[in-house]
Amino acid sequence: MQGNIGTNILICKGVWPETGKISYIPPHKQRNPAMTDLPVFAPLSAAVTFVGAGPGAAAHLTLGAFRALQAADVVIHDRLVGDEVMALIPPHVTSIDMGKEGFGPSAAQSAINTAIVAQALTGARVVRLKGGDCGIFGRLDEEIEAVEAAGLTYAILPGLTSATVAAAAIGQGLTKRGRNRALRIVTGHAMDGFAEQDWRGMARPGEVAAIYMGKKTARFLQGRLMMHGASPDTPVTVVENVSRPDQRVLPATLATLPDAVALTAGPAVLLYGIEPRRAALALTELKEATA
Ligand SMILES: C[S@@+](CC[C@H](N)C(=O)[O-])C[C@H]1O[C@@H](n2cnc3c(N)ncnc32)[C@H](O)[C@@H]1O
Repeated sequence: MQGNIGTNILICKGVWPETGKISYIPPHKQRNPAMTDLPVFAPLSAAVTFVGAGPGAAAHLTLGAFRALQAADVVIHDRLVGDEVMALIPPHVTSIDMGKEGFGPSAAQSAINTAIVAQALTGARVVRLKGGDCGIFGRLDEEIEAVEAAGLTYAILPGLTSATVAAAAIGQGLTKRGRNRALRIVTGHAMDGFAEQDWRGMARPGEVAAIYMGKKTARFLQGRLMMHGASPDTPVTVVENVSRPDQRVLPATLATLPDAVALTAGPAVLLYGIEPRRAALALTELKEATA
């Protein structure tokens, strides 16, 4: 059986067992895989479900995450959840904004933990919705520990992290045979300030790293990497507002990284060691020129 998914109807061609004839299946006999009959995710059975929202667009939300939002009573979300995903939260669901921003104004983690636990203790089905993948720089473990300490059950639905979607936007894989045998996922800042890394390892030719929360630390990253022998010409691609209508790709090198980062206002992921393919860049330039 073959099928094409249109905007809202499925056009299926099938072989009828009785006659052996090929025929189109009328819409009322089709099973729509976007609806409830796909066995992708049992309805929320845990008190708290941690859900990765992806970096922005609804297209980058998993089907499991979508269904978790439909089944929730309360959604506690952070500031990186995209507008398209927020629009998928049904109107009857209570939505609580618990935005947290590195270096900036933030809800204390303890207040977030308290809110999650308090809501779940009322018997509400709670979805804790986080931008990207909830398990990558999302303080997931701290929240799980609070939920466990309260004797509540939990489940985790991972999401697409911003770096994988950013790499797709520049037409690159994050790993490539003959180039990098490892991929580093690093943060620019730690609890006590700028984050130290294995600079010597990162500075080796061909290394690739996805650097999160790296905007304010761009000059520090540049200095540390060059001090450990990285070439100033090492490509670093800054991808801002990944998966959103205002997504921007800024190709840079280690030498020009602070200048590139200074041009951004939104969240950005730095793809160290890879540059945009020409076709992907041309597409971005065209989009900007016609905006
Ligand atoms: C607290 S971390 C959260 C990461 C998130 N859990 C993920 O998997 O993408 C925040 C950082 O993730 C990156 N980030 C998250 N969403 C982004 C987006 N839509 N566009 C670009 N960078 C993003 C930025 O580096 C931002 O400073």
